Amino acid sequence: MKPTRALLLESVHPLADDVFSANGIEIERHSGGLDEDELIDALHDVDILGIRSKTQITERVLKNAPKLKAIGAFCIGTNQIDLPAAANAGIAVFNAPFSNTRSVVELTISELIALTRRLTQRDKAMHDGVWDKTAEGAHEVRGRTLGIIGYGNIGSQLSVIAEALGMRVLFYDTAEKLALGNAQRADSLSQLLAEADVVSLHVDGRAGNAGMFGEEQFAQMKQGSIFINPSRGFVVDLESLRAHIESGHIAGAAVDVFPQEPKRRGDAFESVLRGLPNVILTPHVGGSTVEAQENIGQFVATKLRDYLQYGATTLSVNLPNLALQAVPGSHRITHLHRNVPGVMARMNQILAEHGVNINGQLLATEGEVGYAVTDISSGLDDETVTLLRQMDETIFVRILK
Ligand SMILES: NC(=O)c1ccc[n+]([C@@H]2O[C@H](COP(=O)([O-])OP(=O)(O)OC[C@H]3O[C@@H](n4cnc5c(N)ncnc54)[C@H](O)[C@@H]3O)[C@@H](O)[C@H]2O)c1
Repeated sequence: MKPTRALLLESVHPLADDVFSANGIEIERHSGGLDEDELIDALHDVDILGIRSKTQITERVLKNAPKLKAIGAFCIGTNQIDLPAAANAGIAVFNAPFSNTRSVVELTISELIALTRRLTQRDKAMHDGVWDKTAEGAHEVRGRTLGIIGYGNIGSQLSVIAEALGMRVLFYDTAEKLALGNAQRADSLSQLLAEADVVSLHVDGRAGNAGMFGEEQFAQMKQGSIFINPSRGFVVDLESLRAHIESGHIAGAAVDVFPQEPKRRGDAFESVLRGLPNVILTPHVGGSTVEAQENIGQFVATKLRDYLQYGATTLSVNLPNLALQAVPGSHRITHLHRNVPGVMARMNQILAEHGVNINGQLLATEGEVGYAVTDISSGLDDETVTLLRQMDETIFVRILK
């Protein structure tokens, strides 16, 4: 049997190699990305593809990758991959949805202290050669109220650390969320804005959030309060933010994400926020730390390994999720199929007619595809496998031991 082969592009973190090598997976690396035609050539004999955000995985690439079983996006976003086409081609996609959560939280904490303390202004004065020793406008964060909008992975972790600093935490989320520690849920966004000394935005990138934070919301914030956005650039109206900083209503802001961001390191950056006092601008680096890169390398490689070895699809972004473990001594059939009525009945009939004893079976469906995992006590003969493959609805059948 040929060894499993992984192609890793865009300098995926070397920790991925450790996970693959320990499991006998051969690795080939390219430091850059590949264009569509280069990718099709390179994928001919590849089982696993690892990319970051630059490599575009189109339907044409997927159709021309005969052996490809799984793609690891060693990053957070998966917009670069045609996910439905991958599901229909039976190729699982995994990413790292929370490997950089802590990094974003730490940046946010550092900014809320720096802004509350007006460190940017003290620092600038010193570099300009001025000894501006004053307590004016500088506060402790202890006892102040942090308003978190979007209480997901990042918002909720920020809540825990802010409380450890002695802050009171209020949060607002459109979904039902468990309040951690002593955090309190605000009844409305207006209530949060009226009470918070620091407002920090951590909503996701759904289309409905475009422009969700503009003039109306800034106007409701407390006099002298602080605004932080490390979520998505298109959710905030930066012209309004500028106006409220210039009027002195908002005392400081930190912005890490922008409606239009330059493509490459070293490119020019333009924004209405440039040059404003007590405003920290960072080039979308909230999640960019060495530790986050390591976490991503380890996390995604482990998901790919578990999928190939046990068929586990936990946190796959395009296949129905089944959390599975290896069952020693058992043989496992993984069957991806079109999600139409009667597939399981037909599959089990084929197994029954060939005397196959089922030890356990799980099914999950999502949209147009269903994923069935069946543990059986003995191996399958070739005829049974062929009949399963020949079912009209089958996308793939794989036998794992
Ligand atoms: N700056 C960076 O480098 C960086 C790094 C990682 C993540 N992010 C961004 O941070 C944001 C949060 O990430 P996460 O992992 O916590 O996401 P998440 O999906 O876990 O949480 C988002 C939360 O926002 C809530 N929400 C969505 N729209 C809302 C609205 N209009 N009002 C109130 N609540 C709303 C959701 O219900 C959810 O609880 C995302 O936009 C993500 O892209 C940025």
